[in-house]
Amino acid sequence: MRLERTLAERKRQDRWWSLNLEGEDPRKFLADLVLGLKGTTGGKKIENRHRYIGLRPTITWLQSASDPSYPVAYDSNESFARLWDLGQAALDEDTPYHYVSLGVGDGNKDRHVIDRLGLEGSDRFYIGIDISSHMLRLGTSEATHRMPGRVLPIELDFEGGQSIRALRELLDSLVDHEPILFSLLGNTLGNMDRDLEFTRTLTALLRPQDRLAVEVGTTERLDAAAAAEAARERDVSRSYKEFATAALGMYTNLSIDTNWLEFTGSIEEEHAVRVEGRYLNKSGQTIPMMLPNGETIPYAAQEGIRVLLGRKYSLDGLRRHFSVAGLSELSVEATARRSDDLPGAEHAGFGLALMVLKYEPQGQQPSKLGKVWGPQTVPPMRTG
Ligand SMILES: C[S@@+](CC[C@H](N)C(=O)[O-])C[C@H]1O[C@@H](n2cnc3c(N)ncnc32)[C@H](O)[C@@H]1O
Repeated sequence: MRLERTLAERKRQDRWWSLNLEGEDPRKFLADLVLGLKGTTGGKKIENRHRYIGLRPTITWLQSASDPSYPVAYDSNESFARLWDLGQAALDEDTPYHYVSLGVGDGNKDRHVIDRLGLEGSDRFYIGIDISSHMLRLGTSEATHRMPGRVLPIELDFEGGQSIRALRELLDSLVDHEPILFSLLGNTLGNMDRDLEFTRTLTALLRPQDRLAVEVGTTERLDAAAAAEAARERDVSRSYKEFATAALGMYTNLSIDTNWLEFTGSIEEEHAVRVEGRYLNKSGQTIPMMLPNGETIPYAAQEGIRVLLGRKYSLDGLRRHFSVAGLSELSVEATARRSDDLPGAEHAGFGLALMVLKYEPQGQQPSKLGKVWGPQTVPPMRTG
């Protein structure tokens, strides 16, 4: 293709351009954002996927991801390469996978995967997908230099069934029957409002020859102390609080005071510790809040706007989750946070898990589930 050839040529300004596919409708983004802030589907909130869109949310996310006082991201970055290298054995060694990253972030983890899959000297594609165009550009730019003509950044919200079907069609045209490794890294799963529904939607991407690598935060305990600790660990990092409130500051006229941000932890029975962050109006009076469509609505004293949802999964809960969605586990590699890492964390047993999965829908049979989830049949996890 002429366009592709032009971009792959090594000229003076050769790395200036990147060719992106845009699959987002800005009208939908505006409508969803406004409805969320009005509290149409419950309390006022900013949906998880909207927290990353725009320059300030992107920059503050990149800053908090490398902040040692925000352990959720820092530990994940620190341990990812080790977990990946252990887990990669679950992939077929001689299979030349294309790589599709669902939520590229800063692209650091993708760089490691690209390296380990040996994509650089091959004819395979790296396809980075993100709802945030800024994240996409920053997260894929290095790969664009290394693999000219074989990096395809796609701006897309991957939470909806329609966008997943459109993506699958695009991939079919691009790579035909060739196998793809998909990844969902950095606890992106744990941020989803309806995480099981999301995982089920994702399975429409997976053919028998494809694989899915998922990285999530984990907890050994599902109790009040673990829930309190999960809330506390989000409360320490200033850069994380700036990220958590960045979209609210960008899309409304509120002057953000991060002291108004409060985190609470709760338990999702046999599943996960759930953390929510709320921006609480502590001014003592109603504030007129302007929405991105220009409308002004009341933001009442003591009213909260949900700006964060996160989870830490119990390993059994996670396995049940994937099994119900028809995903079979090929490997699981896990870390546990050392007791001297952070005060309090040792009691909760927080860590990370990286799983390699394949879609085998017969795993959804309820009769089989009972067997799979009997305590004696849960396979042991390896700790790296
Ligand atoms: C928690 S970050 C993880 C980034 C990276 N994978 C890592 O592990 O460092 C989530 C990433 O997914 C993107 N994202 C979140 N929800 C999304 C959605 N519904 N559709 C597309 N991208 C989304 C965000 O913009 C962000 O880059």
